[in-house]
Amino acid sequence: MTNHDYSLDSSDKLLAFGRFLFKNHAEFRHNCLGLYAKLSPLWGGGLCENEKLHKTITFPNDCMPLNLRTPIILAAGANKNGKGINGYANLGLGGITVGTATRNFRAGNAHKPRVGLNEFNRLIHNSMGLNNDGIEKISLRVENQIGKARKNNFAVGISIAESPGEEEQTRVQSLIETFRIAYRTADYVEVNVSCPNTGESRLDLKTDFMKTTFESFENFRKTATQKKAIYAKLSPDLTDRQLLSLLDLLASLNVDGVILGNTYPSEKLFYSLPVLNSAGTSGGISGRPLYENTFRKTILAKKHFSQLSIVACGGIDHGLKVKDLLNEGADFVQIYSVLAFRWMAVLKMNREIGQLT
Ligand SMILES: Cc1cc2nc3c(=O)[nH]c(=O)nc-3n(C[C@H](O)[C@H](O)[C@H](O)COP(=O)(O)O)c2cc1C
Repeated sequence: MTNHDYSLDSSDKLLAFGRFLFKNHAEFRHNCLGLYAKLSPLWGGGLCENEKLHKTITFPNDCMPLNLRTPIILAAGANKNGKGINGYANLGLGGITVGTATRNFRAGNAHKPRVGLNEFNRLIHNSMGLNNDGIEKISLRVENQIGKARKNNFAVGISIAESPGEEEQTRVQSLIETFRIAYRTADYVEVNVSCPNTGESRLDLKTDFMKTTFESFENFRKTATQKKAIYAKLSPDLTDRQLLSLLDLLASLNVDGVILGNTYPSEKLFYSLPVLNSAGTSGGISGRPLYENTFRKTILAKKHFSQLSIVACGGIDHGLKVKDLLNEGADFVQIYSVLAFRWMAVLKMNREIGQLT
């Protein structure tokens, strides 16, 4: 495995200066991404025009294929509420996962700051806690924009999660309702069962919960006029054995694919991190340090579950990394943190992949 690196050009250095200027306002910077994407044609942004990068993801069970302008998609969390979706295509992306959406509005964690950066390791530490407008509003926004996105081969998925804090039974019910609403509008649904920063225990290791909810998603899908792909987003801290047994369960429940993976629970790492809350623990790490694990898990998952669509996510910041992951069997990749460290990162990554195609 090569952890391909890039040298900082003048635009990356300018971006670094911006991070320095707003160093105490990381969440504000995070919220500016939509505007940056919308305005990016002013500085060379636009749709990915390299036809060699276009990719259609098909599924063995007649699910609606996903048409991607490039196999690089924006991961969940960057556009939490489904606003200005088509503007993000200007970053050169092949699609976007909107959300994570819960059944109702959530303000997220109360402590501030909820986002921090570690410049040296090019990582982001976040404990936003699933703040979002609720699935009904988000789904309506997606519905109004998805026609244009599809014309541009820009796939739009919705990420959903259970609502932390609810009683077990209500939780199952509200996740199922959230799924149904998301399914109606999105090209694919991504179920986030691995959020490390709501203060709740994660769902990916609760076998009964996983069984009940994914069975019910499948039953609903059987009644739908159009079959769409269902992905589960897993945590990167699973042991190999946990990952394989979870993949076994998901495959038996007809899940089409998995995102490997979410942010890494920060209490398990030892970086000198910006402290995000008094507990100093509940949060997740994203960015460059996750890559090696992403690469290894992609190979492991594909080797044992070749029928699943594998989406690599975590620390991907170079076109050659995308290329390596696709060679190992990933259908496409998702990225997020690199956008904070590399100016117009996806355009550069598309160029890096394009040079080899
Ligand atoms: C500020 C921030 C917010 C995030 N919010 C979500 C979220 O709401 N849902 C989700 O599934 N993942 C969320 N993530 C995780 C990303 O989707 C992605 O899995 C993770 O950052 C690893 O990719 P990266 O190293 O390219 O950033 C968030 C990440 C960051 C940095």
